[in-house]
Amino acid sequence: MIAVVCAVIGAVTTLSLRSYLYKQLDAQVAAVAQRAAGPLKGGNLPAGPAPGTLSGDNTANDTIDADELSYLATPGLNPGVIGAHLGSDRKVTSAGIAVQSTPGASMEVKKFSAAQQAAFASVPLDSGTHTVDIPGYGDYRVTLVRTPGTSTGYTVIGLSTADVDDTISTYITIEALVAAAGLVAAALAGSLLIRYSLRPLRRVANTATRVSELRLDKGEVALHDRVPDSDTDSRTEVGQVGAALNRMLGHVAEALNSRQESETRVRQFVADASHELRTPLASIRGYAELTRRGREQIGPDTRHALGRIESEAARMTTLVEDLLLLARLDAGRPLALTETDMSPLVVDAVSDARAVGRDHHWHLDLPDDPACVHGDPERLHQVLTNLLANARTHTPPGTTVVARVVPDDFEVIVEIADNGPGIPPDLLPRVFERFARGNASRSRAAGTVGSTGLGLAIVQAVVTAHGGRISLSSMPGYTAFRVHLPVTHSQLTLSLATMS
Ligand SMILES: Nc1ncnc2c1ncn2[C@@H]1O[C@H](COP(=O)(O)OP(=O)(O)OP(=O)(O)O)[C@@H](O)[C@H]1O
Ligand SMILES: [Mg+2]
Repeated sequence: MIAVVCAVIGAVTTLSLRSYLYKQLDAQVAAVAQRAAGPLKGGNLPAGPAPGTLSGDNTANDTIDADELSYLATPGLNPGVIGAHLGSDRKVTSAGIAVQSTPGASMEVKKFSAAQQAAFASVPLDSGTHTVDIPGYGDYRVTLVRTPGTSTGYTVIGLSTADVDDTISTYITIEALVAAAGLVAAALAGSLLIRYSLRPLRRVANTATRVSELRLDKGEVALHDRVPDSDTDSRTEVGQVGAALNRMLGHVAEALNSRQESETRVRQFVADASHELRTPLASIRGYAELTRRGREQIGPDTRHALGRIESEAARMTTLVEDLLLLARLDAGRPLALTETDMSPLVVDAVSDARAVGRDHHWHLDLPDDPACVHGDPERLHQVLTNLLANARTHTPPGTTVVARVVPDDFEVIVEIADNGPGIPPDLLPRVFERFARGNASRSRAAGTVGSTGLGLAIVQAVVTAHGGRISLSSMPGYTAFRVHLPVTHSQLTLSLATMS
């Protein structure tokens, strides 16, 4: 806006200055013409018909030489005045300019060349002042007077516009510089002012940014960030934004708190229920076993029924234990962390698996050096047991299973790979979810202990609680679970709290 205003002011003042200076120059031209006309008069001459402003002062003299330009060198006139005579047919009979070779020297008249003379031919024959461009000399303001003593001849007198043009261009330069300086100053002052006045908005934005960096999706969220009171003045627009943001943050915090509370209640309920179920389940198994082994003679049907009761009770015990473990991991129960070498753990777990899965081929690939992680041996053993159990139960007899420990710079990788049929593609994306299992596992004869679909969920929860991660690649003929555990991790309890 300032630039536009400057441009308008500049244009208007330049145009008015130009027209003022030209008017002055025209007056000078008229004065010079009047003065130059003096020598032309010669004596008492009759007044000729004169269209020009000065023509009234001129009187005709038949004896005057129309080609004579010496009047241009009249003392009192400045150098640079041009003069010309137009004949009856507008033909330029003579034209020249008054020059002074050195200051103080007498003035001489320099004749114009034919091309320069031709410029005068375009001057309109009226009393006005006109601009002509004389090649090699530039623009001149000229006026006409009737040549005294002739009926059709005209005398042209003119002054250069160079001075006026110089003045105008200097004025434009100064104007542009001042406008540019003004614009820079206005831009600086404007940006400082805007920055200063928008500071409260930046504080509001900072609060919003801090909140946006919080993890709101899980766990207990400490949403205490608020816009400072000074920026919540509802009389200003920024204050209204700040107040609205604070109100919104309040609502969000309440919603998150109630979500967290209900999650905690559900988790607590699952943990309590699982815990409470352990005792009756143990009793059921105990009594079933007692009855089966008792001295009383029982028929084969009852024996079968008792066997089923025992196996189903055992299956349910596993399920309840898994649920309890998951609930505890969810609640962020700290692990019993010690410096644990993974190799002996893997050896133990594979030996157990080999004892149960005689139809499978079991291989070990262990490093020479200890591969120590900061972990809970019991939980890590469970991870291995679950993965090895999967490799055994979800693959046909004759499958080869390889357990490998690979120590790396920052992590220890434990890989359980088999060459079984692989995980069904539709199950793959949600294989770590709770109760996710393949159709084959679902239809497996009830009575087989396991296959609840919690095995991999537990594996993931435990590994995450250790600050590690689990990766999986599965295709027909090759399925590998890779557990990445950080080499040392002193703050596992912290990550445990966040994983819930
Ligand atoms: N090595 C594997 N080869 C083929 N399928 C597998 C393998 N490991 C897991 N799966 C598939 O992933 C599903 C989920 O495994 P997960 O261990 O979570 O549950 P589960 O073994 O069915 O039951 P649970 O382990 O609780 O007794 C399995 O049902 C099975 O279909
Ligand atoms: Mg399993």
